[in-house]
Order: sequence, then C-alpha cells, then structure tokens
Amino acid sequence: MLNIFKSKKEFNQDFDLDMNNIPNHIAIIMDGNGRWAKEQNLPRSMGHRAGVETIRRILKEATRLGVKNLTLYAFSTENWARPKDEVGTLMKLLVTYLKKELKECHENGVRMNVLGDTSKLPKECQNALEEALETTRNNTKINLNFALNYGGRNEIVRAIKLINSDIKNGKLNEEDINEALVEKYLYTKGIPDPDLIIRPSGEQRLSNFLLWQCAYSEFWYSDINWPDFKEKDLRKAIADYQNRDRRFGKVK
Ligand code: FPP
Repeated sequence: MLNIFKSKKEFNQDFDLDMNNIPNHIAIIMDGNGRWAKEQNLPRSMGHRAGVETIRRILKEATRLGVKNLTLYAFSTENWARPKDEVGTLMKLLVTYLKKELKECHENGVRMNVLGDTSKLPKECQNALEEALETTRNNTKINLNFALNYGGRNEIVRAIKLINSDIKNGKLNEEDINEALVEKYLYTKGIPDPDLIIRPSGEQRLSNFLLWQCAYSEFWYSDINWPDFKEKDLRKAIADYQNRDRRFGKVK
C-alpha cells in the first residue's frame, strides 16, 4: 500500500516545500463560485456546490501537509443580503456537507469549530453543527474552522461588549485590558493568528475577514475561482509563503 507519509517528498516535488515551515494556520476566503458558474452557464447554486467539492479536496491536502488550523470563510454577516434562495442553498449545502463528511473527518482527526454567531442560522444548521463539533471535539490532527455568520467588525464589537459587561459585573478591571485579553473575547479564542490568508478569484480585499487576527498574516491572491482551486494551488501558495521574509515589524 502506498504510504503517503513516506512519499511526502515525491508528492511535494512540484514546489519543493519545506515541510518544517508549513503555515500553522491557513485561512481562505472561498471566492468566485458565482463567476465559475456563470462561465459555464450554470446557476450560482452549482458554483457553490462545486465549491464544497473544493473544500473536501483542500481539507485533505492541508491535513496531509501538516497544516494545523484551516479556517474557511463560508458565510459572512453581509451575505444575508443575498437573494433568499441563494442563502437557502448555502445553508442546505452546509448541512449536507456536515452530514456527509462528518464520519470521514472524524476518522481523520479533524476537529470542527465555528467562528460567528450561529444562533441566527436555521435550526437544521445549528443541529448539524452541534453534532459535528461534539463528535470531533477531541480530535487533534487539524482544526477546521468554519466562519459562519461571521464579520470581523461584528466580532470586535462583540468582544468590546463582553469585556464591558465583565468589567461591570466585577470579573475584570479596566487595567486588565490588553491585546492578550482582547484575544480571549474573540471567536478565535485560543486559535493562533493566520499565517497565510488565501483569496482566489482575482479579488484583492479582506471583506471583513479576521480583521484583528490578520495583523501579521501573509496574503496570497490568485485569479483561479474557488471551484477550480486545486491541491497544487494550495502547495503553490505555501511555497510562495515560504519565500516571504516575515519580520513582524522588526529588522533582521
Ligand atoms: C463566495 O463566492 C462564496 C461564498 C459567499 C460562499 C462560500 C460557500 C461555500 C463554498 C459552500 C458553503 C458550504 C460549506 C460546507 C461551508 P461568490 O458567490 O461571492 O462568487 P462570485 O463573487 O463569483 O459571485
């Protein structure tokens, strides 16, 4: 049987990756589903469906490469303004994905997590998420974070409110507020900041994604629409990341 761990070098030879410098946390803005569908004269829903297939492939590849945290921007606080049927399609796809993939994800050590306010999602999504999170809670191979009903500004406002309320009820003093404390009030509490943020489809903006956490993230853009994003594109993004000089504001 082929041992993918023994064959790592062979698998990665297209970009000669340094396996000791794989980004710990990769976050992806999965963009371009609609344009992909339009290009093929298909309804937008088919683009999202194809986008889910990409999630399956990229999760597997990220796991194989040893990425420890993968965050996917699946539904923003602004996406509610899309046509009702598109919102419905996205919610249904989420439920189907969770039901179909949970077993395999669990068997492969994937721990699922959500960033965002899930209380506004349809009950069916909440239930599927609850089951997925509970089933996978002790897994340690990779954390798969779905940003759902997520907005970076909303997350920061929420943190301010929570901190304020803890000051009022005596759990905190104003002097306790610092960057490390704020981090504890974010949806990403305990998750390291993304090392690499990937946005396919040609757009070069952040769209309210991980505003606090991206302070020192490396950005990688590509013209490929998300449904066409392949394993080799992830490896290319990582190879480019490995050639960056991360100084974190310091001098070498
Ligand atoms: C952006 O493409 C994509 C989204 C807003 C949704 C991403 C969601 C999925 C890939 C599926 C969700 C399912 C799971 C399992 C999380 P766009 O529609 O903005 O594309 P466009 O800019 O080309 O129109």
